[in-house]
Amino acid sequence: MPIDFGGDYNPEQWSPEVWAEDMRLMPAAGVSLVSVGIFSWASVEPRPGAYDFGWFDQVMDNLAGAGVGASLATMTASPPPWLSHRHPEILPVRADGSRVWPGARQHYCPSSPVYREHAARLVDRLAQRYADHPALRIWHVGNEYGCHTRQCFCDVSAEDFRRWLRTRHGTIEALNEAWSTTFWSQRYADFAEILPPRQAPTFGNPAHHLDFARFSDDAILECYKLERDIVKAYSDKPVTTNFTGLVHKPIDSYKWAAEQDVVSLDSYPDPADPRAHAEAAFGYDLIRSARGGQPWLLMEAAPGAVNWREHNAPKAPGVLRLWSWQAVAQGADAVLFFQWRQARGGAEKFHSAMVPHGGPETRQHRDIQALGRELAAAAEVADSRVRADVALLFDWDSWRAVEMPAHPADLNVLETQQAHYDALFDAHVTCDVVPATAELSAYRMVVVPNLYLMDLDVARRLTDYVAGGGVLVVSFFTGIVDEHERVHLGGYPAPLRAVLGLRVDEFWPLAEPVGLDLAGVRRTGTVWSEWIETEGARPIATYADGELAGRPAVTRHEYGEGVAWYLGTRPEPAAMRAVLDLARADAGVAPVLPDLPADVQAIVRHGHGSDYLFLLNHGSATARIAVSGVDVLGGGPVDGVELAARDVALVRLPA
Ligand code: GLA
Repeated sequence: MPIDFGGDYNPEQWSPEVWAEDMRLMPAAGVSLVSVGIFSWASVEPRPGAYDFGWFDQVMDNLAGAGVGASLATMTASPPPWLSHRHPEILPVRADGSRVWPGARQHYCPSSPVYREHAARLVDRLAQRYADHPALRIWHVGNEYGCHTRQCFCDVSAEDFRRWLRTRHGTIEALNEAWSTTFWSQRYADFAEILPPRQAPTFGNPAHHLDFARFSDDAILECYKLERDIVKAYSDKPVTTNFTGLVHKPIDSYKWAAEQDVVSLDSYPDPADPRAHAEAAFGYDLIRSARGGQPWLLMEAAPGAVNWREHNAPKAPGVLRLWSWQAVAQGADAVLFFQWRQARGGAEKFHSAMVPHGGPETRQHRDIQALGRELAAAAEVADSRVRADVALLFDWDSWRAVEMPAHPADLNVLETQQAHYDALFDAHVTCDVVPATAELSAYRMVVVPNLYLMDLDVARRLTDYVAGGGVLVVSFFTGIVDEHERVHLGGYPAPLRAVLGLRVDEFWPLAEPVGLDLAGVRRTGTVWSEWIETEGARPIATYADGELAGRPAVTRHEYGEGVAWYLGTRPEPAAMRAVLDLARADAGVAPVLPDLPADVQAIVRHGHGSDYLFLLNHGSATARIAVSGVDVLGGGPVDGVELAARDVALVRLPA
């Protein structure tokens, strides 16, 4: 089994002469898998019900002939002009009531029965036609669901939302209770009175907004499931859909992962951002964890620059290779790019590609060829697994809820997660990023950064985890509301007070950083502070100045067989590292290797016979790592690795 290599292949943009060149260049570059057909709807169904699959048959045959597998798209990501022309009611509506027009892509209301019916009809034809095609490897349903159209506020969506609410709440009384509708005179007498949360004079009802976010995610998921079930009726090949970006608030990756055979991710770290690799690392650990550690597919990355940032930096020499191997190190079994051949026209003509405008004799394409060769040499790492001692908890409902307005302060969940993750990443500790409902007993340490919305079951399981010997780290504004955005009464954070050994009386969010005293060292707290009354917990850091001077900021509480840490503020990065190092000492969590240079990322994938150590130098200086084994990429024994800036090593460890 190889590590797959390839990209989005859009042959409809080119003539058959170019296809012939593609079929020479792909095998020469080591391409084994391409995503094909993603935007082909208008080309295979140019008029309603009139199909033209002839050209696409040729494309699929070409791929089979060249020994390249197809990740075959269901072609429904961009409805053709005739569909919205005949049925303008499929076009999505924004919260302010305005309609979104065609002219780009993903211009459909997810709840639209008309869109779904036309999509299903096409997918049925397609699945029937290509189910047994020798090129077919994977079904690629849709494309980046929820990327552009995240919610639709039209009347069709409103009716679908009411249906969803009936299923969730049963009766209007239960809904009124869950939504706290006595507040501001919002009581409903009938489901018919409920609308999507369209633009209103001021803050809307948070429970209403949260349910609409859940519904909108489900409505899009229904589109995916409809197409998945059709292809499954014809074919036993694995089904995936590519997640847009590392994490995307409208689409709950954990929920969606359960509906796929293999998960795939599109990742576009910014080459101009010196910490981009750490941000990507968080997303890769999350996506791997979304299916319990099963290998995942990097379905899209940019070979060089993208074209959708304000400034689009290309990848400097070495970065394409480094970032591709990073995905593999963190559990990917495929590295694919957007796109194979750089478009001549259209909105993405300045987005880099595997074959740039300049053709195959370019730096970009030579780097692609070299990467293809190198990935092919590492086939033995496919299907190996990453193991982690530490889990971070992440939850889409909590993310959606905590970022709503009218809170003590505006909080940014991804920034919060990253602040905790960075302290572990920089300490060379391997993490999983798991849902709040995950089984935790195998982890030595569990970090819960700002899980504002928490049901009692999760709180009970965290408490049991500590009682049983686990080390838990909880950050401020966690365990505050239930699944309906209702505060857990009895002192914050009520369901975690016993395990944390404290009570929070008031939130004191910080406009300016505040001094901290952490074991005699002066540090800084940011974002938040709070009035904590300890109830058994021991202060590890106190506020050094401000109104809370002398009061606890970070605490430690021994509970049952384990330990629970609490951070009432966001320590600045060095202090966060210091606190998490202390918690790690409680948990006995070690880095992947001792004495690793600061900028070297190290990860082990455990194979069936062997273990593989990946070493990635994200820094600008040469790094030396004491390790021995066999060099998988270069061949031959390894006794100490010297890694130049942006260099990569893959070492088969001694048994
Ligand atoms: C997304 C889409 C692709 C392309 C790329 C460009 O990932 O799936 O079709 O638009 O972005 O970066």
